[in-house]
Amino acid sequence: MSEPAAPSSPPARPRVLSGIQPTADSFHFGNYLGALRQWVALQEDYDTFFFIADLHAITMGQQDPKVLRSRVRRAVAQLLAMGVDPQRSTMFIQSQVPAHAQLAWVLECITGYGEARRMTQFKDKSAKGGEGQASVGLLTYPILQAADILLYRPEYVPVGEDQRQHLELTRDLAGRFNNRYERTFRLPEPYILKATAKITDLQEPTAKMSKSASSAAGIIELLDDPAVSARKIRSAVTDSGTEVRFDMEHKPGISNLLTIFSSLTGRSVPDLEQAYDGRGYGDFKKDLADAVVDFVTPFRDRTLELLDDVARLDAILRDGEERAAAVAQRTLADVYERVGFMAPSR
Ligand code: AMP
Ligand code: TRP
Repeated sequence: MSEPAAPSSPPARPRVLSGIQPTADSFHFGNYLGALRQWVALQEDYDTFFFIADLHAITMGQQDPKVLRSRVRRAVAQLLAMGVDPQRSTMFIQSQVPAHAQLAWVLECITGYGEARRMTQFKDKSAKGGEGQASVGLLTYPILQAADILLYRPEYVPVGEDQRQHLELTRDLAGRFNNRYERTFRLPEPYILKATAKITDLQEPTAKMSKSASSAAGIIELLDDPAVSARKIRSAVTDSGTEVRFDMEHKPGISNLLTIFSSLTGRSVPDLEQAYDGRGYGDFKKDLADAVVDFVTPFRDRTLELLDDVARLDAILRDGEERAAAVAQRTLADVYERVGFMAPSR
């Protein structure tokens, strides 16, 4: 698959789409193992569309515009450094494809107010500042997400467990629109890998690793200094006892570390349990810290190198924007027609 596909190539591969918000300077291990790694793997067999959800990134209040722009570029550079290949995947920025916001409006008008308020992520995020302080954008965020997805008619949407409810809403809205008007949208399936669907906080191993909720010691950022990440692994909270054994209920700390170790190295959990039988947590954590350093060191170097080549990043994004807009525009035109809007004159 090194040659670009010719226009007369065989029927298109089934489509996959996903997005990620540019709300931090670095992705963390939860993002990587829960979702982004699957993005890279799925490029092999699917026609993949990946985007940076910058429209979603202002739902919790404005970011400094310079910071937001820099985070969008950093997000793209990290995806490339992970192995997302712009020859095979269409990579774009959500705000550059206006059809996302346009379809979101139409979907908002078929979503119940109560239905939107029931989303658990809305409840959690709005509870933080008091619901009165939350923006209407935070409430309609999952509907914009539904628009992001439905425009591309994907078969699968690779995400972490926390996005399952948003995928259900997306399917509900697609079905509702198809019923009310005419079949327009494909109902997408979430693609959630059970083993890594919820990577947990290193200091609080029953909570998910999260950029907004985790303490600095609880989260491993991919672009952190590798020595700092190694230290965080070595001081991760483990459970009483000494046995390296996977048991989410009684040993959440060590189980989370086993998940990370296994998915980074490709060694199975039973194999790791056996290898560390009788050796205790210290050895295990030291080896995991080494595996983390081996992964993040070249990743960080590649990302920094890519960030130096702004012209290349911009060219990839321009190309992605064009390819994405062509697909999105076709779906939006169908929606306009079915709803009864006039087609734009140009
Ligand atoms: P976010 O950082 O919330 O924009 O999430 C980006 C992607 O990473 C989404 O698909 C999430 O479901 C996934 N994700 C975020 N945190 C975790 C976690 N701790 N474990 C597994 N997946 C996660
Ligand atoms: N809400 C997702 C998250 O926080 C990001 C996102 C926005 C997304 N639009 C999407 C994910 C469409 C998949 C498909 O992770």
